[in-house]
Amino acid sequence: MLSYQHSYHAGNPADLHKHMVLAELLTLLTRKQRGISYLETHAGRGLYDLTSPESLKTNEAAEGINAITLPTCPLASVLETIHAKHGPDAYPGSPLIARTLLRDQDRLHLMELHPIEYRGLRQHLMGDGVSLHKRDGYEGVFAVSPPTPRKGLVLIDPSYEIKSEYLDVADFTHRLVAKWPEATLMIWYPVLPAGRHLDLINGLKLPTIRHEVSFNLKNGEGMTGSGLILVNAPYGTKDILKKVETQTKPILTR
Ligand SMILES: C[S@@+](CC[C@H](N)C(=O)[O-])C[C@H]1O[C@@H](n2cnc3c(N)ncnc32)[C@H](O)[C@@H]1O
Repeated sequence: MLSYQHSYHAGNPADLHKHMVLAELLTLLTRKQRGISYLETHAGRGLYDLTSPESLKTNEAAEGINAITLPTCPLASVLETIHAKHGPDAYPGSPLIARTLLRDQDRLHLMELHPIEYRGLRQHLMGDGVSLHKRDGYEGVFAVSPPTPRKGLVLIDPSYEIKSEYLDVADFTHRLVAKWPEATLMIWYPVLPAGRHLDLINGLKLPTIRHEVSFNLKNGEGMTGSGLILVNAPYGTKDILKKVETQTKPILTR
């Protein structure tokens, strides 16, 4: 099932949470000269226009990135670069955030199954050091792991269109960590009144750091919060999470 399109949701409070932490983590992981690998199971198209009919239809960015003036931080630097290149209404997806922060010695492996999203990904991300794959994200990331360089971060960011995907993510996480034990994993999940994300949280049988925030989106109809689960989080992650909390108040609350 591929009916989800991220252009309706780009820049919303959940994106703000995920992208703030992602940009901080990548900055932390690239402090040393040695290269890293960055992998994504569900990349999306990489660049969004917040004035597109899809964005304006839901107007979710108005309750996320457009409701806040970011202080100096890695995501703010990325936005500055992206706005300079693509204009003030452009908003980067996770692959472009990573591409902007990573260096020549780093490698990206990005999976996207939807043909239109994949076309966008090719348009905005093709280049040296980047491998793009139009294939199932779980199968693709598993196949290329462990990559070279072996130190790296995997973002798992599905659309959870099928209820069973919460348990599938837990199962995939166990399999991936068994194959690539030193990988840092960042899993995003929505907090919904039905509580389906508890299948994922309770299904994970390994040490994690979990970070959940609440927000107001569409007057509380649907998603009420955003969650991140970190596996093999690098030293300094807890400080990053505290910093992001401070910087995103009052949009995101604990
Ligand atoms: C939540 S969006 C990704 C957003 C992106 N990570 C970001 O933060 O900018 C999920 C994406 O997964 C894609 N997708 C859905 N099922 C997939 C699968 N099995 N393998 C790879 N991509 C898939 C969808 O087309 C969609 O673009």
